[in-house]
Amino acid sequence: MRPEEKQSDLQTPPAPAVDESIASGGDRLPEHERREFEKAVLEGLRARPRRLPCKYFYDVRGSQLFDRICETEEYYVTRAELSILEENAAEMARQIGPRAAILEPGAGSLHKIRLLLPEMPDLAAYLPTDISGRHLHNAARQLSREFPRISIHPEVLDFHDVEGWGRLFESHAAARRVVFFPGSTIGNYQPQEAQRFLNQIASRLHAKDGILIGVDLVKDRATLEAAYNDHAGYTAAFNKNLLTRINRELQGDLRLNHFEHHARFHAEQSRIEMHLVSKVDQIFHVAGHRFAMKKGDSIHTENSCKYTIDAFTKLAVAAGLRRACAWTDADELFSVHYLQVV
Ligand code: AVJ
Repeated sequence: MRPEEKQSDLQTPPAPAVDESIASGGDRLPEHERREFEKAVLEGLRARPRRLPCKYFYDVRGSQLFDRICETEEYYVTRAELSILEENAAEMARQIGPRAAILEPGAGSLHKIRLLLPEMPDLAAYLPTDISGRHLHNAARQLSREFPRISIHPEVLDFHDVEGWGRLFESHAAARRVVFFPGSTIGNYQPQEAQRFLNQIASRLHAKDGILIGVDLVKDRATLEAAYNDHAGYTAAFNKNLLTRINRELQGDLRLNHFEHHARFHAEQSRIEMHLVSKVDQIFHVAGHRFAMKKGDSIHTENSCKYTIDAFTKLAVAAGLRRACAWTDADELFSVHYLQVV
C-alpha cells in the first residue's frame, strides 16, 4: 500500500512503518522565518511553472523521513558515500594536512565526520553548524564523549550563511581551513549556482585551504529513478510533507490525497526533478490566498543534479579551485572530491 492511499485529507499522513515521533510533527518556525516561508510559498505557487523551495522539506518530520530514505535499499547515495569515507579516510586526512579546522554546514547528526576523526588526531577544531540547535548540541556532546581530545564547537547557523563560516574560522586558530560538505547537497543547486556557491566559499578561504565535498554521479536512469521512488513510499511521504508543513504553518487547506509524488531523471539537464502533480482540478488556500490547479498541473519541489567526475571538476576549476583528489565507491555510484583553493 502506498502512503497516499491511507491518509486523511488535511492531516499529517501516518508514514509507512515509521515511529510515532514522526507523525507528531508540531514544530514551528520563528515569526520572521515564517514570513519568509510564506513569501516563498506564495511566490512559488504563483510562478509558472509552479515551484516550492526544497529547503523547507526539513522540519522535524521531514528530517526523520529523510533519515528513513537514507536507509532504503533504493537510495544508494548515503551508503555509497559512507563506504568512500570509510575506505579513504586516511588518504583524505593526508590531503587535508595537519592541524586543520573542519567546518561542516548542515551537520545534523554528525555521522559522517566520525569516519574521518580517527585519522585526524591533531585536528585543530571541528566546527559543525546546523539550523536545529537542540539536535546539534546533543549530537556534539555525544561526539566529544567519543573523541575527548578533539575540540568540537557546534554553532547554530543557517546553511547558506557563508559569512558566518568566515567568522567561525577566524575564531579558531588552525594551519588550514576545510569545509566538509557531504551528502551531495550541492546537487540541489543548478550547476551555475553551485559554481557561484563554491566560489563564494573559496573567496573566504586562503591558499591551500580546501573543500571536501560529496557529489552524486550520473548513472543509468533505472537506478536514479528508483532512488527517488522507493517502494516503501518514504520519498513520496517526504515530498508531500511539504504540503503538511504549509497547512500547519501557513494556514493551508491542501489535500494530500489530491497530489501525487513524481520523480523523473531529465537527461538533458542531468538531474532528478521531484514534483507534486495534481490528481484533480482543485482549489486550495494558503495564508488566505486562493490557488487553482488543473488535473496534471505540477509543483516542482526539488532538483538533484548528477555529475560526471570531469564535469564537476570543471565546475570547481571555474569556481577558483583545483581538484587535489577524487574518490569513488566500487560501483562508481558516488564521488567525494577534495578541492584546494589556488
Ligand atoms: C539531501 C539533497 C542530497 O537530492 O538526493 C532525497 C534529498 N530528495 N530524496 C537528494 C532527497 C529526495 C537529497 N539531498
